[in-house]
Amino acid sequence: TIDQKVNDLLKKMTLEEKIGQLNQYTGDNQATGPITINPNKQNEIKQGLIGSMLNIIGTKYTRQYQELAMQSRLKIPLLFGQDVIHGYKTTFPIPLAEAASWDLSAIELAARVAATEAASSGIHWTFAPMVDIGRDPRWGRVMEGAGEDTYLGSKIAYARVKGFQGNKLGDLNSVMACVKHFAAYGAAVGGRDYNSVDMSERMLWETYLPPFKAALDAGAATFMNSFNDLNGVPATGNAHLQRDILKGKWNFQGFVVSDWGSIGEMVAHGYSKDLKAAAYSAITAGSDMDMESNAYRYNLAELVKEEKVSVDVIDDAVKRILRKKFELGLFENPYKYSDEKRAQKELNNPENRKAALDVAKKSIVLLKNENETLPLSKNLKTIAFIGPMVKEYKANMGFWAVELPEVEYSKWVVSQWDGLKNKISKNTKLLYAKGCEVTGDNKDGFAEAIATAKQADVVILSIGERHDMSGEAKSRSDLHLPGVQEDLVKAIQATGKPVVVLVNAGRPLIFNWTADNVPAIVYTWWLGTEAGNAIADVLFGDYNPSGKLPMTFPREIGQIPIYYNHFSTGRPAPDEDAKGYVSSYIDLKNSPKFPFGYGLSYTKFDYSGLKLSSVKIKSNENIKVSFQLSNVGKVTGEEVVQLYIKDKFGSVVRPVLELRDFQKVKLNAGESKTIEFIIDKEKLSFYNDKLEWNAEPGDFEVMIGASSANIKLKSNFELLD
Ligand code: IFM
Repeated sequence: TIDQKVNDLLKKMTLEEKIGQLNQYTGDNQATGPITINPNKQNEIKQGLIGSMLNIIGTKYTRQYQELAMQSRLKIPLLFGQDVIHGYKTTFPIPLAEAASWDLSAIELAARVAATEAASSGIHWTFAPMVDIGRDPRWGRVMEGAGEDTYLGSKIAYARVKGFQGNKLGDLNSVMACVKHFAAYGAAVGGRDYNSVDMSERMLWETYLPPFKAALDAGAATFMNSFNDLNGVPATGNAHLQRDILKGKWNFQGFVVSDWGSIGEMVAHGYSKDLKAAAYSAITAGSDMDMESNAYRYNLAELVKEEKVSVDVIDDAVKRILRKKFELGLFENPYKYSDEKRAQKELNNPENRKAALDVAKKSIVLLKNENETLPLSKNLKTIAFIGPMVKEYKANMGFWAVELPEVEYSKWVVSQWDGLKNKISKNTKLLYAKGCEVTGDNKDGFAEAIATAKQADVVILSIGERHDMSGEAKSRSDLHLPGVQEDLVKAIQATGKPVVVLVNAGRPLIFNWTADNVPAIVYTWWLGTEAGNAIADVLFGDYNPSGKLPMTFPREIGQIPIYYNHFSTGRPAPDEDAKGYVSSYIDLKNSPKFPFGYGLSYTKFDYSGLKLSSVKIKSNENIKVSFQLSNVGKVTGEEVVQLYIKDKFGSVVRPVLELRDFQKVKLNAGESKTIEFIIDKEKLSFYNDKLEWNAEPGDFEVMIGASSANIKLKSNFELLD
C-alpha cells in the first residue's frame, strides 16, 4: 500500500532529506511574492533538499527541474505547484465572476479544463480554490473567491475541488487542489490585505469555516494557511486552526503549505523572536511545508537536535507530502505530467475555449435595462464603442492570469472590440474612441469620444478597473470608478444617444451616477480569453443574461462591510429611509445599491402558488416547498431561484435571512415549471449558544426570492420540540 511505501522510504531518509521535503522554493521565471533568499536551488534539488517548487511553467522547465531531483540520492520527485486560479492557458472568468453564474456544473467544468491543461504541462498542484468569504470589497482578493455567502461559497468550493482533482489523484488530467487561506483571511480589518482578523469563534464556525469543510468533503488534497493573525495568533502558527480543527476534528489527511513567506512573517507579526522561533511555531502548529521562508531548511534540524521539535512531528509532515507524491504516481514516472505532445493537444483547444465562453456568458450580470435598451439589434447602422477597455486584451484577464504570456494575448484573447466586430453585420459601422485612461485626470480624449458618440445610433462604453487593481495586495480605500471615467459617462450620456455601460472589475465598484442615469448597465467583471465573444453574445441577445451578484454592491464606502445576511438588531430600521433612534445612517440609506443575488434577464419571471407540505414539523421530518415559476416574457431565459430562511428567534441572534438553497432554472418563453425544495433539519441548523450545530424548535420564515432583496413568496412554519 501507499502507506507501506511511504514508511519504507522514510526509513531510508536522513533528517536533512526529510526536512528537504518540507521545503518549497519559487522558480526564477515568475514570482508571486517577494523573493527573499535565492540560494543555489538547482544544487539543493540534487542534494534532495527541496521537496517542491512553484512558478516553474511549461513541460520543458518542469522536466528539467525533475531531472535534477532524479540525480538526488533517493530520487524523490519534486512537486510542482502553481497558481492556476481561473484557467491555465485558456483563461476563464475570475472566480468571483464565475460565482455570479450560480452554475455549479459550469464552475466545475472550468476547474476541470484548467486542471487538464495545467497537468499536461507538468503542474501537479494548483493553489486554488480560494474559499475565503468576502464581505469587504475594499479587499482586492474578493476577486479570487465566491463572494460573501457561506452557502453559495461552500457549494462552489466543493465544485471547484471536484473540478481540479477529477476522478482521482494520479489521473493524467488531475491536479491537487489547495484550499486557501486557512482561515478567516477575508475578514482582514479595513479590507487591507495581510491585516489582522479578530472574530468570535461562532462567526468563524458559522460563516468562514464551512467552505473549507465543503472543500475537504470534496476530497481536497492540500490546504494553504494564511497571512493574517486570527485573534492574535498568526494562522501559520495557529495550532487551534491546523491541529485542533483541520487535522483533529476534521481528520484531514493531506498536507498544509504555508503561504509565501508566512512562516518568516511571524517575526514581523511580533509573534516569533526570530526565524528559528517561527519555524518552531509553524511546524508544531501543523504547517507541513514552508513556502519561501527558508525557515525549515535552516532551523528544523537544530530544533530537532535541541529536542524542541520531535522527529515524529517532522515524520508526520514528511509522510503527508510523500503520500501525495505516491498518489500522483510520481515515483513510477516523475515526468508523467510533463508531456509536450499532450500539452500541445490540450492548451487552448477549441473544446476548452467553448467551456470558457459558456461560463463567461453565464457570469455576466445585467444590472439595469430601461426601455429595453438591450439586447441591441444586429441591424444598427452605426455603433460607437468607447472606453479604455475596448481594445485592451489585458482588461479581460485579471490579476491572476499568469500562465498565458502577454505576448500571446493577441493570439488567444478575444478583445471586446473583436468580439463585437465578429458579431455585427457587414452593414453596421463600428466606431472607436478611447475617451480616457482608467486612472488619471486627463480628459483630452473626451472631445473625440463625444464626436464619435454623436455619429452613432447607440454607444457602448467599456470602463471599470484595470486588470491589476484587484487581486493580492490590491486593497483600495476608494471604490468609485477610477479616474475620470464617470465624467466620460456623463459627457457621453449628454449627447442624448442611448448608452450601454459595461463595467469591468474584480470587485463590486461604486458608480452611483451611472447607475441612476444610464439606461443599461452590464457588469462584465474580468471574463478571460473569451470575454469579447461572451459580451457580444449578451449585448445582441444571443445569450440572455442569467448572472446574479455573489456580493452586495454598496452605495458608499461608509457602508462597508455590507452583506445581506447581517444579524437582526434590537432597533431595526422599519424602512430604508428611516432615521432617528433606529439602526441607520443619518446621511445614507441602509440598503445597498445592488443586493446580493440580484441580476436581470431579457425576459420576465413570475413566481406564484407557494405550497408547504406541512407547517409544523418534528426535527426528523422534512418540508417540501413548491411553487410555480413561469417565463412570462418573450425569450428563453434562466432564473436563479433562491430559498432563504429566517429563524425568528434563537439561543443566539440570527441573521435577517440566510440563503439555504437555490436552483438555476431554464424556461422557454411562456413555459412554467413547478420548482421544489426540501427543507430539512440541516437547513435550519446553526451554531447555538454552546457552539453546537443544531436546529432549535421555534418559528421560521421561508422566503423564495429573485434576490436577497426581492422576495417573491413567503410563508411560516414551526419546528416542534
Ligand atoms: O497562492 C498564493 C497565495 O494565495 C498568496 N501568496 C502567494 C501564493 C503563491 O503564489
